[in-house]
Amino acid sequence: MSGPTPEQIMEILAAFYPYRDRYVAHRTIPAEPLARDDVLRLVRTLAAEEDRLGDSGKVSGSLYLGDHEQYHFLAQVFEAYAHANVLQRDMYPSSTKFEGEIVAMTAAMLHGDAQTCGVLTSGGTESLINPMLVYRERGRLRGITEPEVIIPNSAHVALDKACHYFGITLHRAPLTDGFLVDLGWVRDHVTPNTVALVGSAGSYPYGLVDPIEELGAIAQEHDLGLHVDGCLGGFILPWIERTGVDVPRWDFRVPGVTSISADTHKFGYALKGTSVLLYRNADLRRLQYFAFPDWPGGLYVSPGLSGSRSGGVIAATWAALLTTGEAGYLAAARDIHRTAMEIKAAVQALPELRLFGDGQTFHVAWGSATDEVDIFHVNDFLASRGWRMNPTQLPAGLHFCVTRPNTRPGLTEEFTRDLSDGVAYAKTVTGTPAKSGALYGMAGTPAGNEGLQFLMSGALDAMYAVPDPTGPAPTEG
Ligand SMILES: Cc1ncc(COP(=O)(O)O)c(C=O)c1O
Repeated sequence: MSGPTPEQIMEILAAFYPYRDRYVAHRTIPAEPLARDDVLRLVRTLAAEEDRLGDSGKVSGSLYLGDHEQYHFLAQVFEAYAHANVLQRDMYPSSTKFEGEIVAMTAAMLHGDAQTCGVLTSGGTESLINPMLVYRERGRLRGITEPEVIIPNSAHVALDKACHYFGITLHRAPLTDGFLVDLGWVRDHVTPNTVALVGSAGSYPYGLVDPIEELGAIAQEHDLGLHVDGCLGGFILPWIERTGVDVPRWDFRVPGVTSISADTHKFGYALKGTSVLLYRNADLRRLQYFAFPDWPGGLYVSPGLSGSRSGGVIAATWAALLTTGEAGYLAAARDIHRTAMEIKAAVQALPELRLFGDGQTFHVAWGSATDEVDIFHVNDFLASRGWRMNPTQLPAGLHFCVTRPNTRPGLTEEFTRDLSDGVAYAKTVTGTPAKSGALYGMAGTPAGNEGLQFLMSGALDAMYAVPDPTGPAPTEG
């Protein structure tokens, strides 16, 4: 196991505090209120600086829309309900309208029928946690007390979080050489305790669609739940398919699919903080509700993990779907698919690199095809040219999840050049440690994982620590 040096750790942590020397850090609520104008000025300065990278169009994933006029419009809609608490449904019936319509529009997009229903959640993670609870409860009704779930090794880690929270035993199925779930392994590992299977429609590391029709057949044979994680691909794959591109079937058209998550705050082009979770029928959805009739605080019912919820993001999400429209989603899908194919061609043109799987439509993942090239050296080089890729591991790789800001004319040509130059650079530094790989290469062994868990938790502790105030007050900044 090789870990990062203390200098590397200090460098990584220092990057989280760029304002340490510029602005005062508040450790207590100010005795006298600060002026709104001063606070706004500071916030706008920070936001403008931080948006520069995303607005360059050189970032993989993360920012899906990149249109500041539309952000401003959505923020205006948000503002109208930012203070509204949707838990008080009698006060804000508009949220009930907006939420129901968001769910209905998403269900229609994913070929649901009259029975299909759903909820709005705070994001992809919550949209994966809730169905795990549902399938555990469904199993419990059938007498299963030691529930198990099988997911592809490429499936999102929020499923591990869910199973950790709910005491579900999780089995990670290996992938085939094509980076899709190994169906034979899944078949062999269904037990009387299995309550659900999972497949991804747009896996986070590889952007590929698992064989959902085959998973659906296994789920039906054993009467299991089948959740399809479309958090990433849910709002882009349907539109790419409608432009005429071949996309394997993965939505409610597939018999056996019992729930789907699709994030509005990704390719739905809404503000951060919402995702849609759909169920095949209301009986399943019921299992995630929490109703508690004899609490002294009153009759309490909530649909999911949250209690109070802001009406702002619900209204803004509704507005995003309406103002993007089919035409907007289709146009974006065309641009994104074209750009992804150009990125794919750039990777394929370099014999030192290999694509992870085939069937990419909006997301391209690759690694090194030779020991001569450390993919993290390539990443270091790309970073020096302003690109922000997503590193993956086991095997080491990079991915580029193409979003609207990446579709700007000229960017793929620049990427193609920089990727090629990055491979040439990597060959000149073979055998030296790559900067962006400092924390990679440790995982995958018990000792490595333990060391990483310690470091990762330490980094989180550090992020909640307020650094010593060494700079001027915000009013002076
Ligand atoms: C496939 C997939 N599932 C789930 C998630 C989790 O979503 P969130 O970060 O919104 O919680 C992501 C995030 O990238 C994802 O790509």
